Amino acid sequence: MGHYVVRPGPRLEGSVPIGGAKNSVLKLMAATLLAEGTHRLRNVPHIADVEIMCDLLVSMGVDVKRDPDGAGLSITRFSDVTPEAPYELVERMRASIVVLGPLLGAFGQARVSMPGGDDFGSRPIDLHLQGLEALGAEFSFAHGTIEARAAELLGTRVLLEFPSVGATENLLMAAVLAKGTTVIDNAAREPEIADLAAFLNRMGARVVGAGTSTIEVEGVHELSPVEHEVIPDRVEAATFLAAVGIAGGEILLEGARSDHMDMLLQKLGEMGLRTSPTGSGLWASSSGRLSSVDVSTLPYPGVATDYKPVLVAMLSLADGVGIVTENLFADRFRYVAELVRMGADIRIQGHHAVVRGVERLSGAPVKAPDIRAGAALVLAGLGAEGETVVTDSEHVERGYEDFAGKLRSIGADVTLSRTPA
Ligand code: UD1
Repeated sequence: MGHYVVRPGPRLEGSVPIGGAKNSVLKLMAATLLAEGTHRLRNVPHIADVEIMCDLLVSMGVDVKRDPDGAGLSITRFSDVTPEAPYELVERMRASIVVLGPLLGAFGQARVSMPGGDDFGSRPIDLHLQGLEALGAEFSFAHGTIEARAAELLGTRVLLEFPSVGATENLLMAAVLAKGTTVIDNAAREPEIADLAAFLNRMGARVVGAGTSTIEVEGVHELSPVEHEVIPDRVEAATFLAAVGIAGGEILLEGARSDHMDMLLQKLGEMGLRTSPTGSGLWASSSGRLSSVDVSTLPYPGVATDYKPVLVAMLSLADGVGIVTENLFADRFRYVAELVRMGADIRIQGHHAVVRGVERLSGAPVKAPDIRAGAALVLAGLGAEGETVVTDSEHVERGYEDFAGKLRSIGADVTLSRTPA
C-alpha cells in the first residue's frame, strides 16, 4: 500500500520515455504459450500486471527471466505446460483470461478460473466463449472454473456481436494453430491487436487484416519462438498529454506513436493542446486554460475508454461544459465522487457525465479506484490548490512504471510514499 503526494508546481518541461503497452505485452506473453522454445520480448514495462502474467506463466511451468538490461523478458515454454490459470492469479488480473485461446490452440485443453467483475463493473466473457465454441471448443463450468476442451479446432467464420478486444485476441490465438481458415468479422481494431498479429506472423502464423474489422487466419501446424518489440503504451502517453494540459508546459513523449492516438489528439487539439509528431516521439505543449469539449468513448479508432478518466480530470479544469459519454463500461465513473471531493463540478446521468469546468480544484485526500482513475486523480492534484494525497497507489502501479518519478522528471511535484497516509 502506498500513496501519492501531489502539489501544484511549475509548468512541465522536458522529455519522458513512454514504455511498452500494458495491453499489448500481456497478450504477447500469453501468445508465447503457442510455441516451444525461448521467446524474447523487448520494451517490456516494469508494472505489476506484467509481474502477475509472469507468475501465471511460471505457475504453468514456463520459465520467465528479465534480461540483464531490464528492458526485456526471455520466456521459455517447454514441451509440457500445466494448462491451468488458478483463481489466485485470475482474481488479481482479469486479463489472465487471454491464456484460454493459446492453451486451447496449443494443447486442446485449459482450466481457467472464471474472472469476476472488477473496479468498473461486471466484465462478461460470453463473446470469447461463443467464438471459441464456433471453432470447436467445448466448455463446462464447475466450482468457479471453466473447463475447456477441443479435440481439434477447425477454422470457421465468427461474427462478433461487439468488437471486443479480449475476445478478438483469444480467437486469434486459438485460430493460428487451427485446421483451415478462420475469419473474425467485426473484430476489434486496436493497435494492440495489430501488434499481437505481427508477433504471431513473425512466429510463422498466417494472419491478414489485423487492425481492420475482418481478420483472416490460415491455420499452420507449428509456430517458432521469435524476438519482438512491444509497441508504446498509448494510454500512458495520453496520461502525460493530460498532465501537460492540466499543468501547462511543453514536453516530448519519447517513443509515443501519434498514429495510434489520432482521435484523441484531434479532441485534445479542440481543447487547445498543441501536439506534433517528431522523429523521436510526440511533442506536446499547452498554455492557458483548456476549452471544454464533448467526448464519447468508442472502440478503436474512437476515443478509448481507458483515456476517459484523464480526460474528465482535464475537463474538470477546462473553460465551459463538457459532456462525456461512456459506451463501453457503464460503471466506469466511480472515481468521479473523488474528483468532486476535490471541488470538481461533475454530475452523472446514466452513462453520461456533465463536467462543468472550475478554475481551480482543491487538494484533498482521495482514493485510487483503478489504474487509469488513480492516474487521473494524481493529475487533478497538479491543478489543485494545496496538497492532494491519492491512496491505494497499487492500482496505478498495475499499469504505470514509476509514475511519480516520470512526472517529477518533467518538473511535477509528485512523490510516492510507502508510509501510512
Ligand atoms: C481491453 C483492455 C481495457 C480496455 C478495453 C476496451 C486489456 C487487458 N484491457 O479490455 O483496458 O478498456 O479493452 O478498449 O487489454 N464484452 C461482452 N462480452 C465479452 C467481452 C466483452 O459483453 O465476452 C463487452 C464488455 O462488457 C465491454 C465491451 O464488450 O462493454 C468491451 O470489452 P472488451 O473490448 O472485451 O475489453 P477487454 O478486452 O476486457
